[in-house]
Amino acid sequence: MTNAPHAPFPYARPRRLRRTGWMRDMVRESRVGPQDLIWPLFVLDGEDRTEEVSSMPGVQRLSIDRAVEAVAEAAELGIPCVALFPYTDPAVKTEDCEEAWNPENLVCRATRAIKAQVPNIGVLLDVALDPYNALGQDGIVRDGEIVNDETLIALEKQALCQAEAGADILGPSDMMDGRVGVIRRALEENEFSDVAIMSYAAKYASVFYGPFRDAVGASGALQGDKKTYQMDPGNTDEALKEVAIDIAEGADMVMVKPGLPYLDVCRRVKDEFGVPTFAYQVSGEYAMIEAAARNGWIDGEGAMWESLLAFKRAGCDGILTYHAIKAAKALKQG
Ligand code: PBG
Repeated sequence: MTNAPHAPFPYARPRRLRRTGWMRDMVRESRVGPQDLIWPLFVLDGEDRTEEVSSMPGVQRLSIDRAVEAVAEAAELGIPCVALFPYTDPAVKTEDCEEAWNPENLVCRATRAIKAQVPNIGVLLDVALDPYNALGQDGIVRDGEIVNDETLIALEKQALCQAEAGADILGPSDMMDGRVGVIRRALEENEFSDVAIMSYAAKYASVFYGPFRDAVGASGALQGDKKTYQMDPGNTDEALKEVAIDIAEGADMVMVKPGLPYLDVCRRVKDEFGVPTFAYQVSGEYAMIEAAARNGWIDGEGAMWESLLAFKRAGCDGILTYHAIKAAKALKQG
């Protein structure tokens, strides 16, 4: 493909295919459509409430009633799936994270409301303890250590609770060892065999999650960092190992996170495994584009398209992006 024979200059003139918009359109290899987009959104307690996320201009936290309306719009625009994240009241956060498997927790109530009122869109929920953990970590902390196997017991309870609430896809995002296997077995044993798993398989310890932690109200709680469980940014062979393990444990789809700084990982994962592969264009990536655009330093919409296209070029089957609604609206208008 890459080394296809071509005529020498002047017979080969690559610019011939770039002359006009319709020609560029006709020969373009990668494209972005609404079906490529998964929209992460933040839900908030109360009714008729909207709060701006200051570190993510244009992103809001919505109460469940407003989230239902926003999700209905997403479905209308052809977005196949939303990912819900709760802004959890600090008063219910504990060191044992019991709120994670409370069937009346915010994200479970939001899921039930969306499944009841917008049946034709998928709901993806994060399986991880950080929204519920008084210490802000994704795992249970004992004597300053994030303990793996005790966390798995909690994740299993959380996953079953989320499946019961109607989640279509579970996204284990905690990077504990063995979690996909534990969740898959629990789903099978409890008649949730149709619930899919999209594992955050290659999730790096990244500073690009900063604005998200503000958005879900976890920044204040978090002590230290997540480097003993999230991956080291210097590694890619290890990403392939993580993906192989998760697929073997029963993941249906895998994710690379963050997105743009890890496109090489997306490409390697897609080439090596050929499973549905998603990238998460995370909060910090979104914030960088929006901040520069709002300062007049870059063309924000252009940067949005170019980065979304990069994920498709790198082999991704879809992208979790805070730009989903804006992009899908623009696509609809043509
Ligand atoms: C929690 C989780 C995080 C994100 C998604 N799920 C934050 C983290 O691991 O600290 C980040 C998403 C984003 O930055 O947009 N496990």
